[in-house]
Amino acid sequence: MTKQFGAKKAVDDLSFTVRPGIVTGFLGPNGAGKSTTMRMILGLDQPTSGTALIEGRPYRELKNPIRTVGALLDAKWVHPNRSARAHLQWMAASNGIATSRVDEVLRLVGLSEVAKQKAGGFSLGMSQRLGLAGALLGDPKVLMFDEPVNGLDPEGIVWIRKFMQRLAAEGRTVLVSSHLLSEMALTAEQLIVIGRGRLISDSSVQEFVDRASEASVRVRSPQLDALRSALTSAGLTVKEPSSLDQVHPTLVVAESTTEAIGEIAARNNIVLHELASQHGSLEDAFMKLTGDDVQYHGAGTDNDVSGQAGGRSDSMGGALR
Ligand SMILES: Nc1ncnc2c1ncn2[C@@H]1O[C@H](COP(=O)(O)OP(=O)(O)O)[C@@H](O)[C@H]1O
Ligand SMILES: [Mg+2]
Repeated sequence: MTKQFGAKKAVDDLSFTVRPGIVTGFLGPNGAGKSTTMRMILGLDQPTSGTALIEGRPYRELKNPIRTVGALLDAKWVHPNRSARAHLQWMAASNGIATSRVDEVLRLVGLSEVAKQKAGGFSLGMSQRLGLAGALLGDPKVLMFDEPVNGLDPEGIVWIRKFMQRLAAEGRTVLVSSHLLSEMALTAEQLIVIGRGRLISDSSVQEFVDRASEASVRVRSPQLDALRSALTSAGLTVKEPSSLDQVHPTLVVAESTTEAIGEIAARNNIVLHELASQHGSLEDAFMKLTGDDVQYHGAGTDNDVSGQAGGRSDSMGGALR
């Protein structure tokens, strides 16, 4: 799909498939086009070109939308003076869903105790739970959540994460967006990464991290000097870890493999006590792949992206393009 807002291409020839049974993360910096994509999937925004299909059909052609797909895009749209239960009952009644299901979803999201309180007084975490209850009302096979953990406390984040994983384990299709790779790495199995509306990566979380993060190797040896010169002679970059631990002298070798280093050591008759590959941080991996996109936004006219993914985009200013 492509979505053009005036001169702005919010979603640019984006194509992907979301599979059932796992949580799929939809990752990208703020302004990357995640919400626009989800709105188009749900028929709330009209794509400039392309289509989104849910179980083979565009949203507007679904025979029973609420029983096919549930979504939580903006948790705060509930009527502030309605109770949680009344809000869900109204949704259920207008969709031919039994009242018993209302109590069931309230229990599922842990809101039974506060079901009679006005939703307007709910905390963000409670509003998110109510939004989830609404999404689950029709017991749909497909679920979409747009940045559901934004603004939640750590306990709420863990709860939502586990909840989404449980829904996926039940065989449902779960698509959840976030601008935080660290959160997605803990929640999702599959990862669709976008930047500036375009697809950057579509793979498992592990593949994405492996590909994006710089691989280095940690090697420990009682013959550290001999090892260092053998590695340097082989053209490798050797870093000394800052550790003062003289009992376990260790080197870190940039952009190499355990195989290569093991063989160099063997050729030089060097004893190794430890040989392990290590990866850079998840956020480094994310920045490496989307960094250009972040800079673009920092230099542009969008206000909605300020303050995300570190301040480095701001400092680059408009001079980049
Ligand atoms: N209704 C709209 N009119 C004009 N521009 C929009 C509109 N909705 C989103 N955009 C722009 O499209 C881009 C993608 O926005 P969005 O889908 O909200 O990104 P994300 O959810 O990844 O943060 C942003 O640059 C945003 O400013
Ligand atoms: Mg968004």
